[in-house]
Amino acid sequence: MRPSLRAAALFATIALRGVQAISKVTREGRYLYNDDGSRFYIKGIAYQEQGVVVESDDNDFGEPSSFIDPLAIPDACSRDLPYLQELGVNAIRVYSVNSSLNHDACMTAFSNAGIYTIIDLALPLNGSIDRIVPSWSTNILDQYVRTIDAFSKYDNVLAFNVGNEVVVSGGTAVAPYVKAAARDVRAYLTSKTSSVLVGYAAINGAATFRDPLANYLSCDLTGGNKDSTAIDIYGLNDYEWCGDSTFQSSYARTTGDFAGYNVVAYLSEFGCITSPPRLWTESGAIFSSDMSPVWSGGIAFSYFPASSVQGQFGMVTISDDGKTVTTSDDFNRLKTQYNQVTGPNSPAKSSAPAAAYPACPTTNSTFVASSNLPPTPNEAACNCLLSTLSCRFTPATNNYTAIVGQLLDTACQLVGQKGGTCDDIGGNGETGVYGRLSGCDPTVKLSYIMSTYYQLNDRNAQACSFAGNGTVNPNAPSSVAAANAAASSCIANPGATFVPSAPASTGGSKPGGGSTSPGKNNGAVNLIGDNNALVGMTVMALASIASAVWTLA
Ligand SMILES: *[C@@H]1O[C@H](CO)[C@@H](O)[C@H](O)[C@H]1NC(C)=O
Ligand SMILES: *[C@@H]1O[C@H](CO)[C@@H](O)[C@H](O)[C@H]1NC(C)=O
Ligand SMILES: *[C@@H]1O[C@H](CO)[C@@H](O)[C@H](O)[C@H]1NC(C)=O
Ligand SMILES: *[C@@H]1O[C@H](CO)[C@@H](O)[C@H](O)[C@H]1NC(C)=O
Ligand SMILES: *[C@@H]1O[C@H](CO)[C@@H](O)[C@H](O)[C@H]1NC(C)=O
Repeated sequence: MRPSLRAAALFATIALRGVQAISKVTREGRYLYNDDGSRFYIKGIAYQEQGVVVESDDNDFGEPSSFIDPLAIPDACSRDLPYLQELGVNAIRVYSVNSSLNHDACMTAFSNAGIYTIIDLALPLNGSIDRIVPSWSTNILDQYVRTIDAFSKYDNVLAFNVGNEVVVSGGTAVAPYVKAAARDVRAYLTSKTSSVLVGYAAINGAATFRDPLANYLSCDLTGGNKDSTAIDIYGLNDYEWCGDSTFQSSYARTTGDFAGYNVVAYLSEFGCITSPPRLWTESGAIFSSDMSPVWSGGIAFSYFPASSVQGQFGMVTISDDGKTVTTSDDFNRLKTQYNQVTGPNSPAKSSAPAAAYPACPTTNSTFVASSNLPPTPNEAACNCLLSTLSCRFTPATNNYTAIVGQLLDTACQLVGQKGGTCDDIGGNGETGVYGRLSGCDPTVKLSYIMSTYYQLNDRNAQACSFAGNGTVNPNAPSSVAAANAAASSCIANPGATFVPSAPASTGGSKPGGGSTSPGKNNGAVNLIGDNNALVGMTVMALASIASAVWTLA
C-alpha cells in the first residue's frame, strides 16, 4: 500500500473501534506507572527532522541553527504514524517546537495511537541556556512558558525538558541555571495543575561530573525533602552500547552509579553508530531486570536522518516530495527488537518507595555548581528598568540576535575602559552570585550597559550611538543619581523567586532577546562523550563574546 493509503486506513480503523483515552502516566518515586498500576517504560524514538547544521569549528555538537517543528505538520505525522506503530514505540522525543503553530492534529493522532511526547523546551540559537555565557532570563522563561501553554492541553505530554546537554565536563557552573529553570517550570506547571514531568537530558561523560550533576538536578536545596527545585525525570544520552555488546560491558557501570537515584531515569538517546550495523540488541538489556530497577526505558536515536561527524543516525528516508517513507535495515532491526521486549512489571505501584529529595552534592574540582540558584526572571522589573534607561538599544532589524552579542562585548569593553563593570548583567554559577539584571532579556542588559557608558561619558550623545544601534531616551531620569534610584526601585528584590506567569501574548515593542553566542543546546545530534565537546567549547568561547568581561568574579 502507498503510505498515504495506509495512513488513511489506519485512521479509519481507529475511528471505527472508537478511541480509548491514552493512559495517564504518573510518577511514583523513581518509577512511572500507567493508570492501571502497571509499570510504564518509555519505548521511544527521537522524532525531528534535522535543521540546518552549519559545519564549523565552533559547532562541534553539530547543533542546528534552525528547526522544523514535527508536531505542526499533520501530513507528515499521518505519513509517519504507521511506521512508528510498526516500530512499536510508545513515545517520541521532540527537540524543538514552535508554540505559535497549531499542534492539534499531530498530538491527537499520536495520542489516539498511544504515543506520548517528551518535549524539549529549548530552541536553537538564542532559545536555550547558553553554555558559555549562561543566564536564566525572561526571554527564555517566556519561550518555555509559551510552549508549556501550547502543549499542556494535550493528554499525551509526558515530560518537558528544560535543557539538553547544557552542562558538560568542565562546564558545571552552568548547572544552577538549569536547576533554576527546573524550579520555575515546576512552579508554573503546578500553578496550572499540570502533572507533566519536569525533565533534563544529560550528555554522558566522566562519572565525576555526570553523577553529581544528576544528583544536583534532583536534590532539595531547602533541607526539607522538598521537590521544589528538583527534576522529575533525568535522561541520559547514552551511546555506551555499540555493536553486539552486553550489559556487563556497556551499561553495567552507569547503572551501578544510578542504583540509588531518587527520580525517574531513562536513556534520553541511545543507538551507537560506531560499530555498524546497529543491531539494537541493547533493547533487550534496557528492558531487562538488569536495568529496570534503575531505568524506565529509552529513546532510540533517530527516526529521521541525522548526520553528525560520526556518521548517519536515521532509520528512514523521506522522498523529496515528502510523501513517501523508505525504511532501512536499521529500522527493521529496531522494530524486531522493540516488538519482543517488555519491561518487568515491578515493583508494584503500591510498593514503590515514596519520592525522596536528598541534600545536594557537595562541590569539588569536578563539580563546581553553587547551591545558590539564579532568581526567577522578573519581566515586570526588567521592563520597569528599561523605561528608566538613558540610552537604549534600538536595532535596525528584527533579526538582531547576531548583533546583540557583539554589541554587549563592545559595550562592556568600553565601560571597562572607563572604569565601570558589567557585573550587574552577569552571573557566576560557581560562586552563586548573580547580577541584579542577570535575569533580564539580553536586549535589556545591552540597553543598561549602553546607558552606563553614556553616563560615564557625561551623556554625550555620541556615546549612545553604537554605530546607529543606540537611541537616547528623552524620558529617562535627568541625573545619574535619579537614574540609579529609579533602577533600584524597579529591581527592588533582585534575588526573588516566585511563580512565573504567562507572558503577554504578542511580542511588544521591546526587542525580545538576543544571543551572546551561537546556539548551544538544541537538537538532534549530540556527541557521545564530553571530550570532543570540550574542544568545541573552547573555540566557541573565543568565537563568542569575551564572557570574562561580564562574568562576576
Ligand atoms: C514560529 O512560526 C511562526 C509562523 O510560521 C514564525 O513566524 C516564527 O518565526 C516561528 N518561530 C520560530 C522560533 O521559529
Ligand atoms: C567530586 O564529587 C563527585 C561526587 O559528587 C565525585 O564523583 C568526584 O570524583 C569528585 N571529584 C574529585 C576531584 O574528587
Ligand atoms: C539573521 O542574521 C544572521 C546573521 O546576520 C543571518 O545569518 C541569518 O540568516 C538572518 N536570519 C534571517 C531570517 O534573516
Ligand atoms: C549595529 O551594530 C552592529 C554590530 O556591531 C553593526 O554591524 C551595525 O553596523 C550597527 N548599526 C546598525 C544600524 O545596525
Ligand atoms: C531570539 O531572537 C529573535 C530576534 O533575532 C527574537 O525575536 C526572539 O524573541 C529571541 N528569542 C529569545 C528566546 O530570546
